[in-house]
Amino acid sequence: MTDIEEKLIVALDAPTIDQAKRMIDKIGGRVKWLKIGSQLFTGAGPEAVEMVKKAGCKVFLDLKYHDIPATVSGAVKTAVEMGVDMMNIHALAGRKTLETAIRSVNELCAGSDVAKPLMIAVTILTSMDAEDLAEIGIEREPGEMVTRLAAMAKKAGMDGVVASPEETGLIKNTLGERFVVVTPGIRPEWAGKDDQKRTKTPAEAIRSGSDYIVIGRPILKSDDPADAVRRTFEEMSSAV
Ligand code: C5P
Repeated sequence: MTDIEEKLIVALDAPTIDQAKRMIDKIGGRVKWLKIGSQLFTGAGPEAVEMVKKAGCKVFLDLKYHDIPATVSGAVKTAVEMGVDMMNIHALAGRKTLETAIRSVNELCAGSDVAKPLMIAVTILTSMDAEDLAEIGIEREPGEMVTRLAAMAKKAGMDGVVASPEETGLIKNTLGERFVVVTPGIRPEWAGKDDQKRTKTPAEAIRSGSDYIVIGRPILKSDDPADAVRRTFEEMSSAV
């Protein structure tokens, strides 16, 4: 795998373990990372993680935990024991939840051979605009909330954030190059937009400084997913 190939995470958004398995058979040998989200995990549970690991891919467990410190701490410890390589927690769960989760992961990994996963915070969902925020009592612009929550997540010890392509540059500028940015909402030049609104191409996302880009439907729904992966890598490579 080249460095650029390390930066692609394919969202394994499938309703059943059998459908996920069929997709892994098509692309598992070509990609380094697969993302397991709430649909697949709700249906298949830890078996989905095991299947992806067996295929030789790293796992981003995208369950966006949002709960009290003790509950999230328990969940992240279980995820670490499962062997996931990246997971995420809602920053809106608050600093204490993030700090407690990080402490639990560090304690579990210290002195054991369990590798510490990348701990990523979710700031404001890209599906929410200013009006949605106002409705829940947040009278601030989404961009302002994203940078505020990202700064809090960094202080709490998180490794990075999920952010839209528009926000990557600002986050890197304010919180430093080493603070990881994972970017969904990416559409290769040859793909439609689906329900994503503010999309960027793989090359634009890499140029803006994203460490990882997440792509689902353009690859999953392609007639030839393996070739879609190849063309995505080509676009990503054109940016470096
Ligand atoms: O199919 P598509 O490429 O739009 O998939 C993007 C993936 O990234 C989905 O699994 C979605 O849940 C996830 N995601 C997102 N926007 C966020 C966070 C996660 O699209 N803000």
